[in-house]
Amino acid sequence: MNFFIECILLTFNLTSIFMMSLLRWIIPTKHKSVKDEVCLVTGAGSGIGRLLAFEFAKRGAVLILWDIDNIGNRETADMIEKIGGKVFFENCDVSDREEIYKMAQKARMEAGDVTILVNNAGIVYGKDFMEITDEEIEKTIKVNSLAHFWTVRAFLPRMLENNHGHIVTVASVLGLIPLPGMTEYIASKFASVGFNHGLELELRKYQKDGVKTTLACPHHTNTGMFSGITYRFPSLLKPLEPFECVESIMHAILTNRSMVVIPRSMYFSYNMSTWMPHAATLAISKFTGILKSMESFIPTRDYQKKAAKIE
Ligand SMILES: NC(=O)c1ccc[n+]([C@@H]2O[C@H](COP(=O)([O-])OP(=O)(O)OC[C@H]3O[C@@H](n4cnc5c(N)ncnc54)[C@H](O)[C@@H]3O)[C@@H](O)[C@H]2O)c1
Repeated sequence: MNFFIECILLTFNLTSIFMMSLLRWIIPTKHKSVKDEVCLVTGAGSGIGRLLAFEFAKRGAVLILWDIDNIGNRETADMIEKIGGKVFFENCDVSDREEIYKMAQKARMEAGDVTILVNNAGIVYGKDFMEITDEEIEKTIKVNSLAHFWTVRAFLPRMLENNHGHIVTVASVLGLIPLPGMTEYIASKFASVGFNHGLELELRKYQKDGVKTTLACPHHTNTGMFSGITYRFPSLLKPLEPFECVESIMHAILTNRSMVVIPRSMYFSYNMSTWMPHAATLAISKFTGILKSMESFIPTRDYQKKAAKIE
């Protein structure tokens, strides 16, 4: 095609995309149905994963719950069964590639092809770089980033064959804007953000537009994972309640949005960090006290307490 005509078509296309995006802000977009979809949630035994699983079950999806916390996972399954949902739950350590492949096989045999995959399991030790051990660094990267590669490799082929599916990456605002006191967590979340972006573009390259991706980047959420962390201006940046975080993630999934940053105000911080001089970003970080946020971190999860030698 003539280059000049291509440029005109691109201009029309871009204009209509911008108009549609604007309209989606004004007119509420209809939620898609997830009834009878087979939805696998990793880290479903507590916090955000548990609530996401419950939301999918409320809408009629069949749930597969993976976690290493058997008690928590059982509780989530009970919640789902109580509302009449169909649920399978398994102990699956997502830091172990072979276990993922084995459990994926089992999930397929029991529940059928997974059509919605929610990579949510995550850990944070909350230690400075010079304090964290090599093993803790490796574990964080395995759970928070590498696991996404293995789960997607296990379930994407069938999604591609059917040109139908949805891959959800629960990353973090810390996968866009860093914070000190957890370099391995930041690196793991930047990796999961990068993984999502790369995967999304490959799906578009192969024109598999029936397979959707959603990247969720929540700010600090009151699940207990980041207990005790403080901000200089807490009224400006309150932690999210788990239900509001999950509501926004669900809305993004059900409207096939490719990315959601929660709360919206964090888009502003993220955008500023991309164009401002780096020294200015550092000065703002210092002023807002985020350089010291993690100093008051309280380990509450068993693995965090063990790493901090609290028990
Ligand atoms: N809580 C926050 O402030 C916050 C903010 C942004 C992003 N996130 C992300 O959201 C996700 C969920 O966090 P949350 O706040 O619900 O934390 P959480 O600690 O309540 O839940 C994490 C779940 O993952 C499970 N898990 C840990 N290691 C696992 C493994 N190896 N295999 C399988 N399951 C494993 C845990 O047992 C737990 O049930 C994480 O990826 C986290 O990084 C959390």
